[in-house]
Amino acid sequence: LTEAFVDSHDFKTQLSETAGAAFVSEGFEASAGRVNASDRPDLADFQCNGALAVAKAAKANPREVAGKIISHFSADDRLKAVDIAGPGFLNFVLSEDALSQRANALASDARLGAPKVAARRKIIIDFGGPNVAKEMHIGHLRTAVIGESLKRVMRFMGDEVMGDAHFGDWGYQMGLLIVAVSEEQPDLPYFDAAFTGDYPTEAPVSLEDLGRLYPATAKRVKDGDEALRDKAKVATRELQHGRVGYRALWQHFVTVSRQALIRDYGALNVTFDWWKGESDADPYIEPMIVDLKAKGLLVPDQGAQIVRVAREDDKKDIPPLLVVSSEGSSMYGTTDLATIVQRNAEFGPDLTLYVVDQRQSAHFEQVYRAAYLAGYAKPGQLEHAANGTVNGPDGTPFKTRDGGTLKLHDLVSQAVEKATSRLHEAGLGEGLSETEFADTAHKVAVAALKFAELSNHRLTNYIFDLDRFMSFEGKTGPYLLYQAVRMKSILRKAGDQGVSAGAITVGEPAERELVLLLDAFDNALKESYLKRAPNLLADHVYKLAQGFSKFYANCPVLVGDDAAVKASRLGLVTLTLKQLELGLDLMGLSAPEQM
Ligand code: ARG
Repeated sequence: LTEAFVDSHDFKTQLSETAGAAFVSEGFEASAGRVNASDRPDLADFQCNGALAVAKAAKANPREVAGKIISHFSADDRLKAVDIAGPGFLNFVLSEDALSQRANALASDARLGAPKVAARRKIIIDFGGPNVAKEMHIGHLRTAVIGESLKRVMRFMGDEVMGDAHFGDWGYQMGLLIVAVSEEQPDLPYFDAAFTGDYPTEAPVSLEDLGRLYPATAKRVKDGDEALRDKAKVATRELQHGRVGYRALWQHFVTVSRQALIRDYGALNVTFDWWKGESDADPYIEPMIVDLKAKGLLVPDQGAQIVRVAREDDKKDIPPLLVVSSEGSSMYGTTDLATIVQRNAEFGPDLTLYVVDQRQSAHFEQVYRAAYLAGYAKPGQLEHAANGTVNGPDGTPFKTRDGGTLKLHDLVSQAVEKATSRLHEAGLGEGLSETEFADTAHKVAVAALKFAELSNHRLTNYIFDLDRFMSFEGKTGPYLLYQAVRMKSILRKAGDQGVSAGAITVGEPAERELVLLLDAFDNALKESYLKRAPNLLADHVYKLAQGFSKFYANCPVLVGDDAAVKASRLGLVTLTLKQLELGLDLMGLSAPEQM
């Protein structure tokens, strides 16, 4: 799996190449030439620490090594200055010309400085993971938001990416629901094994029914109703083995749930290319079992059938993967393994990313190992991009006041309500029509919720605090949208005044800073891609918005008589807005026209 990039023209990459070549010609490793943004932006734009490392290994004086490297930059017209600092760091200060050139190159680049992957790969992102009947809760927000952003980033970088919801529609909860409906409506034809007519096309249960029946029945089992549990297990097995009435009823559960899910995800700007479910792997299970047996991997164990995946050098105990339960049913691991086979047959991914709660990591370890043993994937092709939990103020997984988990649907409506009152408080959106205002409030709400997710590393557990997420100040979604709207309004005003954007000439410190930020988009995308970490993109977009705000405070855009300065600054605003909006889009957000 190669993860190299092309079309990368940012300063960090360019200077690293030159420095790398300099180290090589002085007899050192090219990797010593790695250049990073400076720790001291007041002194320099970029720095390279390589001389220290190589001098230590070669028992040489680091400042002397740095002196040899620096001589390779003496005629470099990208630089205004290059110095040796402290024990042997190299400090680079870019020239205004180089920055202006870079800004103009970015402005004329359709991809705004984004690199591309060197080799296009086929990637599946398994995210969202909603379940039939169980309504989505706040935990499902996390995988949905992160998965959506990774999908967009990887696709934009050039991969062929498919997002799959991997709908939970095949386990024991299906049997439980069948039994629950049979108790409430025993006369329905689905339960009559001798029935031969046509089943009703209308669903016998609504989403509300499912949302009520599932928790109530699950609770009875939890409270010790063993007869109910056994019935549900039998129903699950019969469903899986093709009992016609159960399949027909189950199809209604799936359809009703999926419709609601598509609506809830849609409100968050989250979409899937595939709505495949665990059940879609079903046709692959029988042949897979035959194959696993033939390979000597599937072994009987206390009435069940398992694949042992433990290795000798394991530090902790890795239990076997349960493929066929003692009741003869497929389990979560069975459908996950068969889904790998299915995806190979239907798509042939080079990589599958599972954006799923880290509490499932043991499960994925078992599934992946079984897949490697059976030859369904090569190590490295299955990857768990795990996420942490969303907590309440008490530090435990978030609950509503009455102790339940907050439903995604309620969450979005609450956020829209809060966004509406925040806009009013801030005196924003007053000139908007009712529909425009509603659109703005929805965008602000979605940005608040999603950016709160995306600005944390996916593994970080964070505290859900809608008030803070909804602020127009600080590192929040609404702040980003607000800055975008300010830029849009500058551009509108410029249009009214007949001023147009022109070539960018960097002069003021705030202009320098802004161009350096625009330049760093390239690296932010690479890092988000490689680390499956949209928070690095989120950081970039936030810094860019801040950089604009600082620029605008220091560099008036539409005032003064110097037409070239006006055109240049307008060019900078135009470019910044484009990159900001692209960044927002890659996070699955969008800015309104006005606020
Ligand atoms: N439906 C599962 C849940 O709610 C998540 C599915 C994740 N994807 C997978 N391939 N197992 O926990």
